[in-house]
Amino acid sequence: MGSQLLATKSIDELHAQEASSNELRRALSATQLTLLGIGGVIGTGIFVLTGVAAAQNAGPALALSFIFAAIGCTFAGLCYAEFAAMIPVSGSAYSYSYATLGEGVAWFIGWNLVLEYLFAVATVSVGWSGYAVSLLEQLHVHVPAALSQAPFDQDKLTHHMIRTGAIINIPAMLIVSGIATICYIGIKQSAVFNSVIVTIKVTVIILFILFGMSFINTANWHPFVPPNEGHFGLYGWSGVLAASGVIFFAYIGFDAISTASQEAQNPQRDMPVGILASLVICTILYVAVALVLTGMVHYSELNVPAPVALALDKYVPLHWLGIWVKLGAVAGMTSVMLVMTIAQARIFFAMSRDGLLPKFFGRVHPRFRTPSVGTVITGVTAAIIGGLFPVGVLGHLVSIGTLAAFVTVCIGVLILRRTRPELPRPFRTPLPWFTCLAGAAVCGLMMISLGGATWWRLAIWTAVGIAVYALYGYRHSRLHRSGG
Ligand code: ALA
Repeated sequence: MGSQLLATKSIDELHAQEASSNELRRALSATQLTLLGIGGVIGTGIFVLTGVAAAQNAGPALALSFIFAAIGCTFAGLCYAEFAAMIPVSGSAYSYSYATLGEGVAWFIGWNLVLEYLFAVATVSVGWSGYAVSLLEQLHVHVPAALSQAPFDQDKLTHHMIRTGAIINIPAMLIVSGIATICYIGIKQSAVFNSVIVTIKVTVIILFILFGMSFINTANWHPFVPPNEGHFGLYGWSGVLAASGVIFFAYIGFDAISTASQEAQNPQRDMPVGILASLVICTILYVAVALVLTGMVHYSELNVPAPVALALDKYVPLHWLGIWVKLGAVAGMTSVMLVMTIAQARIFFAMSRDGLLPKFFGRVHPRFRTPSVGTVITGVTAAIIGGLFPVGVLGHLVSIGTLAAFVTVCIGVLILRRTRPELPRPFRTPLPWFTCLAGAAVCGLMMISLGGATWWRLAIWTAVGIAVYALYGYRHSRLHRSGG
C-alpha cells in the first residue's frame, strides 16, 4: 500500500490521456478565463464576511488583512500558474499532485478540493439567499424566515449544533438547482452568462468605491490597527492575521480557472494570464472596498450580514445605490456558484477517470459534452447542505480545505523542479525557493489563525476521505490496476 500511496502518474501519460480523451470543448479564451476567475472570486467574502472580520478582528486594518491574504494567494497563484501551464489537464491541484507527490497526497488534495468547491457552492448559496430575501423585501415580497434560513446553527459557546426553529432555506436550494442546470447544459453558455454577471458586480463595486469615497470620515481610521484586547485575534496584529484567515474566503475561486484548462483554447499561455490577472484585479477592488467601508462606518458597527448595504443606508444621498449593490451582490454570488459548480464537476471528472471515484462521476453528456453526472451530484449535494446550514459554519471549513491545497501546490512546484527539471515549463514561477516557501508559510499561518474547531472539522473530513480511499480508490485506481 505504501508504494501505491507514493506512486505518481507520469506527466507524459497525463498529456496523452488529455489528447485521447478530450471530450470537453476547447471554448475559452484568456479574457474569458480571467472573467471566469473574477466570477469565481468576488462574492460572499466581500459582500458578507468583510463586516464581521472588521468588527471582530481587524478594525480599519482589514485592508492589511486583504493584502496579507493576497500575498499568500499570489505566491500560490504563481505556483498554480506554473503547474497549470505545464499540466493543462482537468483536475487542477489534484492532477498536479498526482504527478508529483503520489496518489496518497493527490487523493488528500482532491478530497480537499471537494471541500473547497462543493461546500463553497453551499456557503455562497446561503449568502445569496440572505441578499435575495432582503431585496425581495424591498420590493414588498415577503419570504417567511422559516423558509429562508438554516434549521441548524452552531451554539456560540459550546460549538454544538442546535435547532434554530427554521424549517429549510428554500432560496438557497433553488439557486443551486438553477446553477447546476446551466452547468449541465454547457460550458460555452455558462461562460457567456458569467461574463455578463461579472460586468454587473464589478461595476457595482466600483460605484461603491467612487461614491463612498467622498463620505469617508478619516476619524474612523484612527487607530488604524486597534490595540489588542487580550486574546489572539481580538484586534492588534494577531487580529489582522485572524481577519486574513476569515476574508481569505473572498479570494477563493481564482484557482478554479485551472480546473477548466482542458476547455481553454491555449492553456499554456492563457492559464497564467487568467490566474494572475483575476487575482490582481480582485485585490485592488478588495483593498479599496475595505478602506472605503471602514472609513464610512466605524468598524464596531459593521457586524452585520450586509455591511456594504449598511454603509450606503447610513448616508441619505447614497440610498439610491443601495438597491443596486444588493442586485450586484446577488448577481456576484450567482457567478461564484457557477464557477464553483463547473470546477467541482471537473474535479469529479478527473478523479473518476483515474479510478479513485466510481466511473459515473466522470460521465460526459453525449450532446452537451459536459461532465453531466458530476454536475448533478454537485448540485444535489450542495443544495442539501445550503438548505440546512448557515454561512458561518461552512465558510471556515472551505477556507482551511483550500489553504491545505495551496500549501501542497507550493511545495509540489519545488519538488517537481528537482525531480523533473527537464520538463518544459511554459511559465516558470520566479524565485522558486522564495515564492514556494513563502507561499506555503503565509497560507500555513492563515490556516493556524482559523482556530481549533475548524482544524477538528478538517480532521474529520480527512478521516472520511481516508475511509473512502481505502474502501474504493485504493482498489480501483487505474495506476494500481496498470501496475503503477
Ligand atoms: N471567493 C468567493 C466568495 O467570496 C468564494 O464568495
